This record gives sequence, C-alpha cells and structure tokens, in this order.
Amino acid sequence: MPISILFVASECARFVKAGGLGDVIGALPAALRALGHDARIVIPRYDVIPTQGLKRHAAPLGVPLGAGDAWAAVYETRLPGTDVPVYLLDHEQLFGRGYLYDPPGSVAHDNLVRFGFLSRGALQLCKYLGWIPDVFHVHDWPTALVPVYLNTIESAGPLARAATVLTIHNLAHQAKFHPGALPVVHLPWSEMRPDSLEDFGAVNPLKGGLYHATKLTAVSPRYAAEIQTAEGGAGLDGVMRFRAADLLGILNGIDERVWNPRADPNIAAHYDPSDFTGKAECKRAIQTEMGLAQRPDVPLLGVVSRLSEQKGTDVFLAALPRILDLDTQVVILGSGDPAAEGYLHWRSHHGGDRFRAWIGFSEQLAHRIEAGADLFVMPSRFEPCGLNQMYSQRYGTLPIVRATGGLDDTVDNYVPATGEGTGFKFWDLSVDSLVDTVRWAVETYRERPQHFRAMQRRAMQKPFGWDVAARKYADVYEWAIAARRG
Ligand code: ADP
Ligand code: GLC
Repeated sequence: MPISILFVASECARFVKAGGLGDVIGALPAALRALGHDARIVIPRYDVIPTQGLKRHAAPLGVPLGAGDAWAAVYETRLPGTDVPVYLLDHEQLFGRGYLYDPPGSVAHDNLVRFGFLSRGALQLCKYLGWIPDVFHVHDWPTALVPVYLNTIESAGPLARAATVLTIHNLAHQAKFHPGALPVVHLPWSEMRPDSLEDFGAVNPLKGGLYHATKLTAVSPRYAAEIQTAEGGAGLDGVMRFRAADLLGILNGIDERVWNPRADPNIAAHYDPSDFTGKAECKRAIQTEMGLAQRPDVPLLGVVSRLSEQKGTDVFLAALPRILDLDTQVVILGSGDPAAEGYLHWRSHHGGDRFRAWIGFSEQLAHRIEAGADLFVMPSRFEPCGLNQMYSQRYGTLPIVRATGGLDDTVDNYVPATGEGTGFKFWDLSVDSLVDTVRWAVETYRERPQHFRAMQRRAMQKPFGWDVAARKYADVYEWAIAARRG
C-alpha cells in the first residue's frame, strides 16, 4: 500500500548540509518514491538557500508563536534530479542568519523558538496544503517536537491519525532550554515531566520526542544497541531502554547518483572495479592540488570530517606524526573545533610535501579526496552510522575505522590469511592502536598489493544503495501506522 510521508528536517543535501543528516534527507525520500510512496520534505529556507527558481505560494502560512501567529512564506520545488516535492518555510528573523544551528563559536539562545517554529510549521503546512500524510518522519532534536505537538495540542482534528517516526542520527546532539520559553512555542506545562520534555529542570526536545514518537529508529543496528547503555546513551539510555520494543536500527545508504566514481563530475578521471587507471589519475590530481610530492607509490591517507571529540580528532592529531613517519602522505579536509583547526593550519604550513590540511567545508574537495586517496581514516569515539566509510569503499579507498556503531556494521575487517575484507578495524581508542592499524594497512598496500587490489574491488562492489533501507523504513511506517490507528 502506498504510504504518504512528510520528512521534517533541519538539513537536506543539495540545499543545505552540515553533515550526514543532510545526506540522508537528500536521498531516502527519493528511494521511497521509487517504491511508490508519496514522500515529501519540509526544511527551513535558510538564507544560504537562494530563492531563485523556487515557486512561492501566494498565501503566507500562519504558525502559532508567542501571543499570535508568526507568518512564513512557503516556497516549493523538487529535490534536484528527483520528483520529491520540497517545501521551504521562509521566516527572515528566524532563519536569515547565515548559520544553521548556532553562530560560529557561540550559541543561538532562541533555538527552541526557531525549531519549534519549524516543527509546528510542518503541521500547519499540511493543513494549508490539504495534504495529511500517514506519517511524519522527524530527525534528531531539531524536529523532535513534532510528535509532542501531535500528542498534545494537535491531538484532535485532521492530524490526529498521523503516526510519527523519530530517527536518531546522533543521540549526543541535544539542545536544552529554559522552561520559560515553553509558552512561546505553545507547549503545555503538563509536558514538563521526566517522561516527556523535562530533563533536570530544562526543556529537552529530543527527550520529549523519544517519549512521544510512535516508533523510533537509529541509523545502524549496532548504534541502536549502544544507545541503550550508560556509555552510549548520552544521558538518555534509560529512555532508550524504556522504548526498546519500539526501536529499530536501520543502516543508512549512500546516494549513488552523487557518490559514483564512474560518473562523478567533481573528480579528475572516472574509474570502475575493472580499471583503476582513473583512480591513479585522481591520486595524481589531489597530490598536485594539495602540493604533495607526485609519488604514485606512496600510500595516501585521506580524512574528511567534522573536527570533534565524536570523530576522535584528538587521537588522530596525536597519532599524525607517527603516521607520517611510516612514509605516508596525509590530506585532511575538516572544520570544527578551533584548537584542532589552529593546529592543523600550523602543521599544514610545516607539512612539507607529505601533509596538507584544508580547513573549511567543501563538498567538491570531499569527492576529490575520496577518489584520490588509497586509505581513509575514521577513528571515531562513537559513530551512529557514518557515511564517509561507505563513500570511501565505493571509491575503492579502503577505510581504517574504529569498530564502533555503523563503522563496525559497514566495514569488513581484512583477513590476511584469505585476503578477505574491505577495510581495517581497531577497537581500542588509543594512539597506539590507531598507528598500529595504519601500519598494518600500509604494509598491506606495500607488501600484499594483490590483496589490497582485491579488497578495493570488493569494497567498490558492496551494495550500499538506499533501496534496502527504504524498504525497511516502509515497514517501520506501516508498523507505526498500525500502532497509531490501533
Ligand atoms: P556526521 O554527520 O557525524 O558529520 P557522516 O559521516 O554521517 O558524519 O557524514 C558527514 C558528511 O559530511 C559526509 O557527507 C561528509 O563528506 C561531509 N563532510 C564532513 N566534513 C566535511 C567538510 N569539511 N567538507 C565537506 N564535506 C564534509
Ligand atoms: C549523524 C551521525 C553520523 C550519521 C549521520 C547520518 O550525523 O553522527 O554517524 O551517519 O548522522 O545518519
């Protein structure tokens, strides 16, 4: 049976993206439409999204806020290259700020209002369009209030039968607010209780969403288990255990239209598992671009990452001198933690022809690194799913990962006796383990090139498309609809 689904999200790749959440929203709805479902998306119209080419609806959309209504312009378009309708809610004061979540190095104190507006706005939008979806699919804390609204002030009326699915991309991302702001976003005081929004006196939208959503998913099976433990639960493991029967782990896919070494417009040459000539050219190109020595034989390691504790940036930076001592080249693209950025800048200037860092966010450069490197490093402290290790496998760039969350679920460890595997794993998050594993990978590259090549081929052919996940989500939607409608 075709299902109608509204994705309510704070990011969507091709419009605006800060990380993997944006990649997921930019791909999963199209995969659902390919299965015959009516999936649509609503996001804010941040000022970084040009209005050019978007259709503007004539009537404004009223969203109850404070003493009256806040008015949004509604823009509509299709997700590029697909038939997925995308609605963008435009409110200059809330989203015309040059940033998504917080100003650089600071915090936006009114994020409850901004994302409360988005969540309530998504519900208002459905009434405005006269299109009531079977399911609201919401993502992480910024849209976690949707299920809370649906179970409280919207519990009667046209939206009452709609089910909600809350996907946890990162449980550690939580925003907390002063309860004084609750009436501004029209949430009832009765929700200030520990089995809803209340979290040690603060309003925690994610916590409320976890209690109120009809069903929950996490972005890998391994992560679904990890968040039920004190170590991985970011303070909400009790909630996760309470809702364990309604929680399912579903691995993310990759957008194969965007991440495809056979046709990627961002890279120097195309290639496929039967011919690696193009990959060698991509390596030469990234070496030139980054000012590294033109050496085809040297193992080139790539990193594309937010620079943060989650990503194990600290461990990587401590290991870097020893990794370079293995006669490797390393390129990093990243942004985030100011101290890490500063160190990388300095180190890059003194990196000679073996190390280069590019601080900032560049999707094109991310593609060129994925294509040009031999190995890709992800020493994450925790990783709900992780997309780069899947991109790197698709590009024949073998990942070196800490076996946590989705990294463990998506990378097959090298078995020297048989040559099996698609990457190299370590368990203990320490500088020594990381360096040892890089050494192991580099030795494989140098001393067992046939194994290395076979692993590259195998990695490139692994099925990472969204079709598998889309079917599983469709099952979850049906499960949620049945639960909601009793
Ligand atoms: P997370 O969402 O936790 O950052 P993921 O691996 O799921 O981790 O997704 C990260 C996404 O963001 C990938 O598409 C990756 O290529 C991209 N990305 C991260 N940092 C940068 C950067 N500095 N420049 C370009 N793309 C980046
Ligand atoms: C989060 C997680 C990352 C995951 C992404 C998309 O940003 O940190 O591991 O891949 O969401 O689900």
